[in-house]
Amino acid sequence: MTRISMTVDGVEYDDDVEPRLLLVHYLREQLGLVGTVVGCDTSNCGACTVLLGGKSVKSCTVLAVQADESEVTTIEGLSTDGALHPVQKAFHENHALQCGFCTPGMILAAVDLLGQNPNPSEAEIREGIEGNLCRCTGYQNIVKAVSAAAGASSSTGGSQ
Ligand code: FES
Ligand code: FES
Repeated sequence: MTRISMTVDGVEYDDDVEPRLLLVHYLREQLGLVGTVVGCDTSNCGACTVLLGGKSVKSCTVLAVQADESEVTTIEGLSTDGALHPVQKAFHENHALQCGFCTPGMILAAVDLLGQNPNPSEAEIREGIEGNLCRCTGYQNIVKAVSAAAGASSSTGGSQ
């Protein structure tokens, strides 16, 4: 077992983990943060995406020990005082989800994208979320939502 400590959604954790434990399994099984989901377990779908040090990563490709001393944000830590994050709000308002399984990872990938590029073109949005698969929506409304979140943020001067 290896001792790790990390801040997840603003809460500090110290735990003993098996060195081979994946970050996604640590989040779900040890911390009970089941908003982060497993879609494939083979690094294809992006459903397990979280922010690690502010950058989106597929948490099924990261060992929990690799996130030692880091800050992790999951979909469960994105809202502030009960208010949806602008990207969450835009997904809701633009009907960017059907089953919702891909949504947590898609939103976190979009947050990272908008952090790097606050005003992406449609092509840049499609490229930015290409690692996240959705089997329901055909992507049109997802792209619309990310674009709306970018517009909402630049018109209010807010940041992602
Ligand atoms: S569960 Fe991690 S990429 Fe699919
Ligand atoms: S909404 Fe179902 S997989 Fe994307």
